Amino acid sequence: MDRWVALCRFVCLLTGVTATALTTSLFWAAAVQRKIQSEGQNHRKDAHNESLSIPRIKSLAALAVTAAASSDLYDTDALPNPEVITRLNAMFALPLDRLKVIVKQIISDMKTGLERDGGAIKMLPTFVTKRPSGRERGSYLAIDFGGTNLRVCELVLNGHAGEPQLLQSKFQISENVKTGSGSALFDFIAECVRSFFQTHHALDAHDWNSKRWQLGFTFSFPVDQISIKAEIENFDEKESANLSTDTSFIQGTLITWTKGFTATNVIDRDSIRLLEDAFERMNLNIEVTALVNDTTGTLISHAYQNPDTYAGVILGTGSNCAYVEKFSNITKFRGPPPPLGTTEMLINMEWGGFDDAQVVIPRTKYDLLLDRNTPTPGSYTFEQLISGMYIGEIVRLVVLDLARTGDLFAKATIVVRSPLHKQYGFETSYMSRIERDHSFDLADVKALLEGDEFEIVGTTLADRKIIKAVCEMIGLRSARLAAAGVCAVVTKMNKLNGCTIGIDGSLFEKYPHYPNRMRDAMREILGISSENILLEQAKDGSGQGAGLIAALAAEAAVGIQ
Ligand code: GLC
Repeated sequence: MDRWVALCRFVCLLTGVTATALTTSLFWAAAVQRKIQSEGQNHRKDAHNESLSIPRIKSLAALAVTAAASSDLYDTDALPNPEVITRLNAMFALPLDRLKVIVKQIISDMKTGLERDGGAIKMLPTFVTKRPSGRERGSYLAIDFGGTNLRVCELVLNGHAGEPQLLQSKFQISENVKTGSGSALFDFIAECVRSFFQTHHALDAHDWNSKRWQLGFTFSFPVDQISIKAEIENFDEKESANLSTDTSFIQGTLITWTKGFTATNVIDRDSIRLLEDAFERMNLNIEVTALVNDTTGTLISHAYQNPDTYAGVILGTGSNCAYVEKFSNITKFRGPPPPLGTTEMLINMEWGGFDDAQVVIPRTKYDLLLDRNTPTPGSYTFEQLISGMYIGEIVRLVVLDLARTGDLFAKATIVVRSPLHKQYGFETSYMSRIERDHSFDLADVKALLEGDEFEIVGTTLADRKIIKAVCEMIGLRSARLAAAGVCAVVTKMNKLNGCTIGIDGSLFEKYPHYPNRMRDAMREILGISSENILLEQAKDGSGQGAGLIAALAAEAAVGIQ
């Protein structure tokens, strides 16, 4: 019996163990199966993800732009490396405390420039001592020369009897003209005037040359001016003999070329004489009666519409400002005394030369490189940070550098002939276009970079975001520096209680957000007083202004009004 009991126990035990083992193995089998299933699912999920992200994005790149945009949501490459942006931001930022230092320094340099020649800001007297009254009459020619285009205008002033009429023709200035011989440059200008007559006075070809025209010449470069010509002709000969030798016949000598011009045999020579000689060679019956800077022309033409205008600013190919200064403050003034009762004179600041010593404004390695590659290194470096001729080039240098370090275009191909490899190949108008693109996937930036303009194949959204950010930083810096200049000028004029600034040039007119960025910076610098300063667009003012100044020069000058 005992044996039977022991046997039964042994069988039970065995069954139990077997059952336990069976249960356990079943449990493990189930667990293993679950794990296998779950791993399988995970694996499939990964595979699914993979096909959703990388390969699908690649295939979508060929599809509609919108589809590509939504798939970029899954593309971590779409996010630019934040370190790159932070690093560049630190290089290009101009915080308020720096802006204030800049404003102070500009004011101090303005004062020095009024006392003596040779300062960082040239502060050139313009001999324009009055603004138009609206009574001016007559027909005047004007040439506007000094940027990307040359314009010839005819301005017909009817006094108070009606709006002035303006006829004009525009000509592109080629690189050959800019960099060839001086006589070829002035011949080109005379040729443009003849072409203007042929276009606008074709029917009276004989008549237009029988009349002696008076012309206002806007020559937008630093010119050391002895007088507006009409004044010097009225100037007593005895007095003129007291001036240094020969100056009575010199109306304005070019101090230096700017904006990439290098034409030979023009520096230190009288620009009016050179132009009149070219007119003679071409048998044109024209007398130059006024030599004007584009800033002065802009101020005068804007003041014609808005008498509260106290400064004219150019934010175009180059950058500069003219403003109304108390005559008694211009202690370095030499030359024929201005008309009796003169209290004010316009000053052409030539602010482009501010901080050429490079001590006040932080410069990046890109700014320094740009400067080194200009025909006149170390000159007009403030202008290089602001104006349309240069800021696209700064963007290009940054982009090339980031491409070199692999922070940009890591997956793209840049064709060898791409303008990205050429000096000035990245026009400032492209910055405007890039900043104007607010689409989710920067489709127009893509079209620009990948199209005929640059031929960069395969840009990622991250690339495009970085490029847009670079444009924003450099465009913003330009606007903040221009704002600092305006703040300095209104403070120097003591006009914080209110005045209007006429501004011409494509940056102010066409670059998205530029005017607002300037206003924001002015608000930071001047506080609530900035609301009193009106920044107004002054379109094509310099041509009309030169005509007006020719009209003023033709009248007896009787002090600014
Ligand atoms: C350059 C010229 C200056 C001109 C400015 C804007 O800075 O030197 O005379 O006013 O460009 O055209």
